[in-house]
Amino acid sequence: MRPVTVRVPAKINLQLSVGVRRDDGYHDLATVFQAVSLYDDLTVTAARRLRVTITGDHAGGVPADETNLAVRAIVALAGRVGLNPDVHVHVRKGIPVAGGMAGGSADAAAALVACDALWGLRLDRTELMDVAAELGSDVPFALVGGTAIGLGRGERLMPALARGTYHWVFALAEEGLSTPAVYAELDRLRGRRPGANPAAPNVSEALMTALRAGDAAALGAALTNDLQPAAGSLRPQLRLTMEVGREYGALGAILCGSGPTCAFLVRDHEQALDLAVALSAAGVCRSVKRAHGPVHGARIVDD
Ligand code: C5P
Repeated sequence: MRPVTVRVPAKINLQLSVGVRRDDGYHDLATVFQAVSLYDDLTVTAARRLRVTITGDHAGGVPADETNLAVRAIVALAGRVGLNPDVHVHVRKGIPVAGGMAGGSADAAAALVACDALWGLRLDRTELMDVAAELGSDVPFALVGGTAIGLGRGERLMPALARGTYHWVFALAEEGLSTPAVYAELDRLRGRRPGANPAAPNVSEALMTALRAGDAAALGAALTNDLQPAAGSLRPQLRLTMEVGREYGALGAILCGSGPTCAFLVRDHEQALDLAVALSAAGVCRSVKRAHGPVHGARIVDD
């Protein structure tokens, strides 16, 4: 059994509309995902026992035990097909850790694709998607990539018609934010306004029209994330970071998922370079990364 390497992208949410908290603790969402060109590479090799190693930026912040989402994915897949999950999984992190860009979910998706190949399972897409949905709300999207609408808690996907390539600049924060903590803060802020229950979330027509037209300026104006006030309440510095990008003339600024990474949509490669310099010079973030989207989901890397 030869080792298998899978490359998997980060995601951003072009829209993240959050409904009320459900009885199971999750929130109903209407979201539009886009996969962007920041990648993790995950390699699985047959081994005597299941173990995980991690390298890359802030790899120390990723658990290297059975709570790691890639490990949970491997255990779930092995259990489903009656195999022992005895592999060495190595993750090279290129996706910001705890940044709201679904790096953990991406690793889970990559682990499913990698072990499917390593073990010669050839499961069909729907079966992998089922396992993915059980692991986390963002795992199915990491399998498909591109641009997609997510409903339910984000795991029910529909392809979105999107034209063109978009250029993004990301401001990475010093420290991560916990997704459950940000959702809880949203509930707390909403609770202070009794009777202000959010309507059932819907996908924005303006956003879908912008995507269909490949109109970056219109897309920038249509970006929305309901978690932004909650993340800003927990981490006021984020408001400043957003402000720097907006003042600089980004077409749009939005928090990535539950944050704390801030994403800026720019016109082209040139403006991306300039904004990256401006954000670094303003000292409002730990580091800056550039990427484009949409890109494809988890895929095997050929030697
Ligand atoms: O599905 P996942 O494990 O990624 O979700 C992490 C946490 O984020 C959940 O435990 C929940 O607190 C919050 N969440 C939510 N509603 C969603 C997705 C996530 O409340 N639709």
